[in-house]
Amino acid sequence: MQYAHITGWGMAVPEPVLTNDDLSKMVETNDAWIRERTGIRERHIARDNEFASTLGVSAALKALEVANLKPGDIDLIICATSSPEYIFPATACLIQDQIGATRAGAFDLSAACSGFIYALNMAAQSIRSGSIKSALVIGAETLSRFVNWKDRSTCILFGDGAGAFVLQASENPGGVLSAVMHSDGSGGDLLSLQGGGSHYPANEETVHEGKHYIHMNGGEVFRFATRVMAQATREALDAAGLTVEQVQWIIPHQANIRIIEAAARGLKLPMERFVVNVDRYGNTSTASIPIAMVEAVEKGQVKSGDKIVMVGFGAGLTWGALAAEWTGPLPVVHRVYPRQYRTVARLRSIWRRIERFIEGLFWGRYE
Ligand code: COA
Repeated sequence: MQYAHITGWGMAVPEPVLTNDDLSKMVETNDAWIRERTGIRERHIARDNEFASTLGVSAALKALEVANLKPGDIDLIICATSSPEYIFPATACLIQDQIGATRAGAFDLSAACSGFIYALNMAAQSIRSGSIKSALVIGAETLSRFVNWKDRSTCILFGDGAGAFVLQASENPGGVLSAVMHSDGSGGDLLSLQGGGSHYPANEETVHEGKHYIHMNGGEVFRFATRVMAQATREALDAAGLTVEQVQWIIPHQANIRIIEAAARGLKLPMERFVVNVDRYGNTSTASIPIAMVEAVEKGQVKSGDKIVMVGFGAGLTWGALAAEWTGPLPVVHRVYPRQYRTVARLRSIWRRIERFIEGLFWGRYE
């Protein structure tokens, strides 16, 4: 029997910080309103030369370093993202190329802010089935590119960043214990970004109508979120044969402190059992759970042997929860330095293009 252990973790956020006071100079809002209604104080915003893939690469290399794996050891890369760099190729493939994960299959997963839970579950199931031995699961976002900076009901909420986990097979019990995934497409219109897809391909009209921005019915999303967070947590715990009391930490999607507080009330747990960093990053969509997790581990809050539940919700509508036993890195036989492989990856990428050009001269030509 194979278990899927979380053996590496990393996060990356862009340096520039946008505070509530900065926002109050852009739209009619103020720090007190934003803090009281959302719990957010500031968020990080990507520079022009930063993308979902570049943030994802930084987070992934840190996760590989903790797991002591080379990029070439990875079998599968799943990048959950709500702000992919392109419709295709997948952001996961851009990351695969930039880190030089030469053996890995790679694809993007689109389940909005629940994406990281979905992706972690998919990767864990692949490991448990025996079809792969290791996976890199990434949540990477530059949602700031899709925010309407004139819409005060949405522009205050979102931030950019990435988080990554390495999952590895082990015969020792532990790691991912259970997961639940849910969806309700009838609520798809409550939170959407419609422009640029096949229904509304980009043209002057779609740009004029603001279809390339995030649109949200905040009140409805709020009600949905407060309903499902506690419910999904309980379902994941039931599936793992655990009670709420046996769990040390809940790592919720960081969208709004009031939603997290409602989940705490629903589970009859004190807020001290919830990892919260929404104040410093805002809602980073798929990256919010891994970023919160990485900070909690680095602060020494989450320790080896702890039972945890990660729980999220988002556009779709989607929601889900995953219960795990935190184990940490597998024993190190000899140390590897994944970052050193970046230059090799860059050279390899150039070489692959040259190879394809040469191959093209001899193969696949019309007679
Ligand atoms: N600054 C100041 N006032 C604002 C404001 C802002 N940034 N945004 C909205 N308001 C105003 C509204 O216009 C409204 O004014 P009115 O009463 O004169 O009409 C008032 O504040 C209350 O608005 P309301 O929308 O009822 O506030 P709220 O308490 O529901 O908070 C959200 C709004 C968006 C913060 C909240 O609904 C929310 O967080 N929803 C969930 C969103 C979410 O998590 N999305 C991501 C899912 S992954």
